[in-house]
Amino acid sequence: MRILSGIQPSGRLHIGNYFGAMRQHLQLQAENECFYFIADYHALTSLPKPHELGRYVLDVTMDYIALGLDTEKTVFWRQSDLPEVTELTWLLSCVTPMGLLQRCVSYKDKVAQGLAPNHGLFAYPVLQAADILIFKSDLVPVGADQKQHIEVTRDIAARFNNTFGEVFTLPKEHIIEAVAVVPGLDGRKMSKSYDNTIEIFEPEESTRDKIMKIVTDSVPVDQPKDPDRCNVFALLRLIASPDELAEWENKYRRGGLAYSKAKKRLAELMIEYFKPYRQKRADLENNLDYVRKVLATGAQRARAVARQTLAEARQAVGLGK
Ligand code: ADP
Ligand code: TRP
Repeated sequence: MRILSGIQPSGRLHIGNYFGAMRQHLQLQAENECFYFIADYHALTSLPKPHELGRYVLDVTMDYIALGLDTEKTVFWRQSDLPEVTELTWLLSCVTPMGLLQRCVSYKDKVAQGLAPNHGLFAYPVLQAADILIFKSDLVPVGADQKQHIEVTRDIAARFNNTFGEVFTLPKEHIIEAVAVVPGLDGRKMSKSYDNTIEIFEPEESTRDKIMKIVTDSVPVDQPKDPDRCNVFALLRLIASPDELAEWENKYRRGGLAYSKAKKRLAELMIEYFKPYRQKRADLENNLDYVRKVLATGAQRARAVARQTLAEARQAVGLGK
């Protein structure tokens, strides 16, 4: 099966990204043909600082490689290395009804959060559709927040195929539900835009400090506590063994537990979990030429596929005949 997914280079990756997306991306490599890319064109819609954008692209690439990206098998590239994608975006734009984009929740959300509503932000789902369709992807593993964008992609593909003949495969989304939403330090969704993250490769000391600051309720130590409403427990759930988790659940419900105890254990587990990958991540940081080479090779492989599909789409609409 051909699997494709993208991740925006909008900051250093955090454990919400890992448990909510990356871990599944990496697991899917073994039995599928995987295409993963860094969506830097998409990141432009929120106007990142130019000097940070390139740095974040390298950071995301290093994080993926350190955590187990199979650079031989999986195709991994930077979106902006494929101009074919922006050309296809235009062809798709011409079969995309305004109403379809006006209904997109993520656009409305971002504007509600105060982001200036530029045309790129509005057209964002069309660019995403081009990413997916140009590779004739069967399955797109994404978080629940992206479901609507995959539906829009299917809708655009169907309109194109109906108008010009069968060029595109209609993709299915694969919602990563194993982990609902990883909470951040303040209890909201962990997100680069809320400044409430624990980075995957955060220095160990700072991981500890941040975990000790996770917001908890004010139930006194001796009282029973509800694990299902606790941010610390939600994170323990991601990494503690089932036996250990059951023990913590008991301690919560029994009363007599200080949250600081659970936090200390969480910090230990978190540090242990990512420890095996740290050395590799540090080595990559000293070998940026290799990291750039991975991206360049990925772009070459991805472009070969993208060129082919773009040629079919151009032909179908009557360009260059
Ligand atoms: P951010 O909100 O930090 O900018 P992105 O929107 O770039 O993160 O998300 C990249 C991927 O990580 C998406 O597939 C998204 O569903 C997943 N993801 C991001 N934050 C979380 C979270 N807190 N819990 C679970 N998954 C998340
Ligand atoms: N919009 C996605 C996100 O914010 C990133 C993305 C861009 C993407 N193009 C994609 C995801 C294509 C899957 C497929 O998470």
